[in-house]
Amino acid sequence: MGSRRNHISLRDPGGPPHAVKEMEEGHLPVMVEEVIDLLSPVPGSFQIDATLGGGGHTLRILEANAPDGRVLGLDADPAAVERTQARLARFGDRLVVRQTNFAAIGSVAREAGFPAVDGILMDLGLSSFQLAEEGRGFSFRAAGPLDMRFDPGTGIPASELIARSSVDELTDLFRRLGEEPHARRIARAIVAERERTPIATGAQLAAVVERAVPAPRGGRSRIHPATRVFQALRIAVNRELEVLAEALEDALLLLRPGGRLVVIAYHSLEDRIVKRFVAAERRGCICPPSFPVCSCGLAPRLRPVGHQPLLPSDAEVARNPRARSARLRCAERLAA
Ligand SMILES: C[S@@+](CC[C@H](N)C(=O)[O-])C[C@H]1O[C@@H](n2cnc3c(N)ncnc32)[C@H](O)[C@@H]1O
Repeated sequence: MGSRRNHISLRDPGGPPHAVKEMEEGHLPVMVEEVIDLLSPVPGSFQIDATLGGGGHTLRILEANAPDGRVLGLDADPAAVERTQARLARFGDRLVVRQTNFAAIGSVAREAGFPAVDGILMDLGLSSFQLAEEGRGFSFRAAGPLDMRFDPGTGIPASELIARSSVDELTDLFRRLGEEPHARRIARAIVAERERTPIATGAQLAAVVERAVPAPRGGRSRIHPATRVFQALRIAVNRELEVLAEALEDALLLLRPGGRLVVIAYHSLEDRIVKRFVAAERRGCICPPSFPVCSCGLAPRLRPVGHQPLLPSDAEVARNPRARSARLRCAERLAA
């Protein structure tokens, strides 16, 4: 199955009325029409939004599963939890919010009264709010501390990772998690710089990277030269790939038969994890191909739904450039 740009028609060039309100509030939910279409939240159904963020998707789910459907919203970021809980307070106890890493989705869902659900959404990565917050260090322009943790109470900030790692470790990190072609050159420049002065802000790191990489052939590149380095650091600091793999396993166990999992990824490493997970659960059996009959007894537990991956429409990308790299995958829980 190839990927496909989705051509859901938009009612006007500015998008649906929801879009205007959400833009004013700072974050446009990505592929929201597709998410609602795939999750199809009906009245009385239970959903989990594992990446609550600004609550854009959750708002639409709560509207669709009214009057008695419920949503459990999770986010590792205490600021997102506080802001979105206030924004969506009008839904009362139909929305339950927990500040947690979604690695704990299984235990948190059971504790919160969501042991079996009809849909789970993961809209990975970071929100426009986080990118805009100076003190979080996610942006190339941030003059505040280079932190990059979704949950500033857990793990170590990016500035510490940079201060502690050797040239080899940084090279490996930028290659593996950023697919950065100039990884070693950048790692050397960072280590040289930190001997003069600690690298404490996003703006400082971006300047070091910019000086270290050769100018792109044929003029300006479409992306900032520090994009891959920032991506690699953010993934490492938040253990994003490990946590995603763990959470997918537990999410599957929470789905009722017929329940759907929707994941939106923004870079190929994450998307590959989702793709392989769905493929493995679609196959079920893990016996080597040389075995004449199955001896593992594992049955398929997921069925992919729709195009894999589904891409945002051109109209959405024009309206919300952040959606450009989104890849959505949906799978349905089988009875096994
Ligand atoms: C792209 S934003 C979600 C935006 C949201 N769908 C909306 O419409 O406003 C991703 C959110 O997921 C959170 N997040 C990322 N990884 C997480 C994890 N492992 N556990 C919990 N929250 C996570 C981030 O803090 C961020 O707020």
